[in-house]
Amino acid sequence: MMDSNSTTNKKVRILFVCLGNICRSPAAEGIMKKLVEKNELQDFIEVDSAGTSGWHEGELPDERMRAHGEKRAYNFSSPARKFRKADFDNFDYIIVMDKNNYNNVKSMSDGKEQAGKIRMMTDYSVQHSHHDYVPDPYYGGASGFELVLDLLEDACEGLLQAIKSQ
Ligand code: 4NP
Repeated sequence: MMDSNSTTNKKVRILFVCLGNICRSPAAEGIMKKLVEKNELQDFIEVDSAGTSGWHEGELPDERMRAHGEKRAYNFSSPARKFRKADFDNFDYIIVMDKNNYNNVKSMSDGKEQAGKIRMMTDYSVQHSHHDYVPDPYYGGASGFELVLDLLEDACEGLLQAIKSQ
């Protein structure tokens, strides 16, 4: 498992991306970090998040997202930042939440290698495989935030399995 990385000590670097970087992607970051710690893989996997917009730059995650996360024992605390071109060099997986995120990130990519790093979060869904994007919860109610957490927990498990089997 993960031999090529352990021999070179090169981490697998994952960046989750949504629109505002205050709801979906910081939640994905927090869920994945907790899963990585639970599996004692902190030395092998690094996780971050960003938004295609800079609208909420420097802000903590949305308080509704934080409250729903706390009910599941997560602490979402990563301040928002905007996705930048250098992220294509700094990350191995750039994982977007919906098709708009995909198109925005893709339009900033340069060549096949960079574009090939972009994946939909729902590509890693296992239990929730009938969803093909993670819906934006920002203008909706509590059930939207719960759905986001259900989809992200499932896809983070699937992503970890995919990385482990590399
Ligand atoms: P996110 O949700 O992309 O999951 O962080 C949103 C956050 C803020 C806005 C839209 C979506 N907004 O319009 O400010």
